[in-house]
Amino acid sequence: MADRQLLQHLFPDRPYFGGATAGIQGERVRHFFMSAAVSLAAQSSPALSILEIGSWTGSSTLTWAQALDRYCRDQGKVLCVDPWLPYFSAEQLQQDANYQLMATLSGLDITYNLFLHNTQFVPQGVKIDHMRGLSVDILPYLKESSFDLIYIDGDHAYESALFDMLMAKKLVKPGGLICGDDLEVQASECDLAFLEANKALDILPVPNLKRNCHPGGA
Ligand SMILES: C[S@@+](CC[C@H](N)C(=O)[O-])C[C@H]1O[C@@H](n2cnc3c(N)ncnc32)[C@H](O)[C@@H]1O
Repeated sequence: MADRQLLQHLFPDRPYFGGATAGIQGERVRHFFMSAAVSLAAQSSPALSILEIGSWTGSSTLTWAQALDRYCRDQGKVLCVDPWLPYFSAEQLQQDANYQLMATLSGLDITYNLFLHNTQFVPQGVKIDHMRGLSVDILPYLKESSFDLIYIDGDHAYESALFDMLMAKKLVKPGGLICGDDLEVQASECDLAFLEANKALDILPVPNLKRNCHPGGA
């Protein structure tokens, strides 16, 4: 079992996002824009409070932490909300071996242990907290208007993403930033009936575009 002790022996001095862990999710260039968002938010607050919905093995968390170190002089905190459990539907799992792999990783608690391992390597002074559970069960208990920046990258199915966006509006401070991942396609580029029929899925290929879309984003 890949518990924290084993990971500590394997990678004593560094985080690990390699192998079959699907550790680096999405386009790498987004890490540049995430840092830029922190730089922007830091202009109005010296120590930022970030909420991340959906952390996986902590790659985006480390990007936030490094940006806090850089732009907030080593101050700030990130609260990560994630169940670290399999979340793809049975229908989704049949479509792609990669989703099956991700579900297996989370089912064996490898994802959670990797998150704990990787987030040890944040710069000193940056605080990482996490709450393990679905956003629907956790966000309603967080303090309103308490985050400078909220990043949405959890379940991308329409109802879940909509819930996270509506909650983010309540939880963000006035003038704060709400951002997210996986808006590959605008709704205007898609057949709306197609989106409606598939809105319970996390991700799916759009037939006319030869690209994937996340229904909660589009
Ligand atoms: C695409 S991954 C996040 C990737 C991560 N932000 C990164 O860039 O490295 C989606 C994550 O959302 C989590 N998740 C799925 N459903 C969720 C929900 N309802 N609430 C919160 N997190 C959820 C999954 O467990 C998974 O870790």
